[in-house]
Amino acid sequence: MVAVAVLAAGKGTRMKSDLPKVLHLLAGKSLVGRVLDSCHLLQPERQLVIIGYQGQKVKQALSDRQNLEFVEQKEQLGTGHAVQQLLKSLTNYQGELLVINGDAPLLRAETLQKLVEFHQKSKSAATLLTALLPDPQGYGRIVCNQDQTIHQIIEDRDCSSEQKLNNRVNAGIYCFDWQKLAQALPKLSTNNDQQEYYLTEVVDYLDKVTAFDVEDYQEINGINDRLQLANAYDILQTRIKENWLKAGVMMHNPDTITIDETVKLESDVILEPQTHLQGNTIIKRGSQIGPGSLIKNSTIGENVKVLYSVVSDSAIDNNTTIGPYAHLRGDARIAANCRIGNFVEIKTSSLGANTNAAHLSYLGNATLGEKVNIGAGTITANYDGVNKHCTTIKSGTKTGSNSVLVAPVTLGQNVTVAAGSVVTKDVDDDCLVIARSRQKEIANWSTPG
Ligand code: UD1
Ligand code: CA
Repeated sequence: MVAVAVLAAGKGTRMKSDLPKVLHLLAGKSLVGRVLDSCHLLQPERQLVIIGYQGQKVKQALSDRQNLEFVEQKEQLGTGHAVQQLLKSLTNYQGELLVINGDAPLLRAETLQKLVEFHQKSKSAATLLTALLPDPQGYGRIVCNQDQTIHQIIEDRDCSSEQKLNNRVNAGIYCFDWQKLAQALPKLSTNNDQQEYYLTEVVDYLDKVTAFDVEDYQEINGINDRLQLANAYDILQTRIKENWLKAGVMMHNPDTITIDETVKLESDVILEPQTHLQGNTIIKRGSQIGPGSLIKNSTIGENVKVLYSVVSDSAIDNNTTIGPYAHLRGDARIAANCRIGNFVEIKTSSLGANTNAAHLSYLGNATLGEKVNIGAGTITANYDGVNKHCTTIKSGTKTGSNSVLVAPVTLGQNVTVAAGSVVTKDVDDDCLVIARSRQKEIANWSTPG
């Protein structure tokens, strides 16, 4: 039986931010959200989150998650004090308690599982995740025997210069026998440089406490400042990209590409330099994204090309090409075999198959049929200053260059709009519409003066 408690009450002073530290985002997910996700293999019986600084905001940010119990730490008097707040909630609980700092977002679920399994076998009162760090600065140092039995943990600021040379550190992830921890918690003092109740002091009152070294020390990185957050992003990106490369996604110059963890890719997708994939994005087989493209919360079909373009909250079907320099947003739905070209913006519109809008257009709140050709510079004038209005363009219709379709307006099937027209009334099927003044020629003109 495992319960999990995440420490998320601290302000995170070193972030120099109005936002509580644990709510800072890392590749689209909050730090505390990542910590909770890393526990999923344990199937914890209870999940407690200790909140304090801007606690309501933290609670709100986690409100879409099920079965969380929030425990308030009114004053933030240290990590030991934070865990003391659990004494009430867990009075009758028997079993293991995994305590995790809310600022450790790079933990792998497998690592936590191994830690708990190791703890269960070793019959220790507590097992701590530890790491041998090339640069241990800032972390609590672990003083232990050859057999990994821990005697003491000394915070960086309480270390002598000799103790600072010790590079085995406390990751801030602890598996406790809860009943034994509950006996030790009331004994904590504030006898340290910060005059806080340190959770690490429980080592003095428990028998025995064991160190469990993590294999990949990068996993335990705690985020205390912006530099560490930026570094964690790099580590996470490397992990995500390695996984996709192994799964058959090609990337040219991966260092310039970023991919959120929430993105799903199929094999034979090609990502070109300076491409950024965010949120709930799906890209299907054979599509080529970039160079220079941003795709956010969108679904891209098979064999689509997106070149120097921005696509958000939209869906693009197979074999369509987008860009260079197109912007699709607000639920743009583009069917198969379309061509959306240079400097075209499409917002809250749907395009049928084999439709083209190749140059310099704005389509907003528009519904286009199949095989429509939008001429260069065509604009749907969808906004009267107060409300948005819809434009319908049925299959087979062609708009001439620089036409303005003033919504609400419907063009029937196979309509041809003459170049430069301003169309304000509905047009029947199979018509040519010319809505501009006729060309005048004035003979023998010479420039006055
Ligand atoms: C802590 C450990 C240190 C370890 C390091 C690993 C202690 C005393 N030190 O130090 O040994 O090497 O983590 O990253 O535990 N928090 C609360 N309430 C509080 C104080 C903190 O909930 O009163 C939460 C914070 O929100 C944070 C976590 O506890 O998520 C850790 O606090 P932090 O101040 O970052 O501890 P470190 O100084 O990094
Ligand atoms: Ca920390």
